[in-house]
Amino acid sequence: ELYQADKVNDKTAIYGIIGNPVEHSASPLIHNLGFKAIHYNAIYVPFLVDNARAFFALAENLQMRGFSVTVPHKVEVLTYLGNITREVKQIGACNTVVRTPGLWKGMNTDYYGFLIPILSDIENGRIKNALVIGAGGASYAIVWALRNWGVKVTILNRTLSHAERIAKINICAFDKLENAKNYEGQVDLIVQTTSVGLSTFESPIEGFKFTGKEIAYDIVYKPHMTKFLTDAKAAGCKLHFGDEMLFEQGKLQFEAFTGYHYPKNLKPEL
Ligand code: ATR
Repeated sequence: ELYQADKVNDKTAIYGIIGNPVEHSASPLIHNLGFKAIHYNAIYVPFLVDNARAFFALAENLQMRGFSVTVPHKVEVLTYLGNITREVKQIGACNTVVRTPGLWKGMNTDYYGFLIPILSDIENGRIKNALVIGAGGASYAIVWALRNWGVKVTILNRTLSHAERIAKINICAFDKLENAKNYEGQVDLIVQTTSVGLSTFESPIEGFKFTGKEIAYDIVYKPHMTKFLTDAKAAGCKLHFGDEMLFEQGKLQFEAFTGYHYPKNLKPEL
């Protein structure tokens, strides 16, 4: 029903997502629902891809108009793009590729998708200092976004050298994860970017005392309510969820793909 297979014809544009794994991606749902709602003749399919370079040739042959990029290709695709935005260059990662005349253009919707839910609290001065837990692929765009919007950041990570690499690019502080307690009561925002809460009900900062004044933001979206957010909620913190970031970055990507706004009242069950 979602894919409107009976409506596919010789004018149907093909979009998709490349990555490994991709089978649990929420992007096909976001985009196909959007296409359907605005009667846009297109389909969006997941492509399980190991060889990103080879996929660019296929995308050319299929006359694809754009595709999303996820783990592990967000950095490597930069090599195959004819044009990248300033943000992609500075973040060093691309999650959105669109066809422009003669070349593929790389964009990044992760950083602004992350920011949208907390933008008003940055602009009204409620968020001045942030702790970013984790220094994996996801934290590059997040740290860049916070720094670019004037927020002071400390990155905490199990492996100090990974935190140092991101801190150097973005001019911010970094520390070992085990020192988390030193930041109790010192920050306005705590962002959880590690994979710790993905498969187990555990927090990377187990035992951390939230004051209740911090805004807690977990970018993990499955489960919706992680241990990190459960602990923050118990202390009375305002919460933000991974599915907010996921949907916001998807809406921005939809605009880049189609030139149309994502339908206002449409909200897929992520
Ligand atoms: P990527 O996002 O690039 O795929 P990852 O290996 O999934 O990276 O790890 C993402 C983040 O989760 C990293 O900050 C990682 O810490 P290290 O840099 O020390 O590897 C963090 N992480 C994963 N498992 C963890 C654990 N058990 N305890 C603490 N941090 C963990």
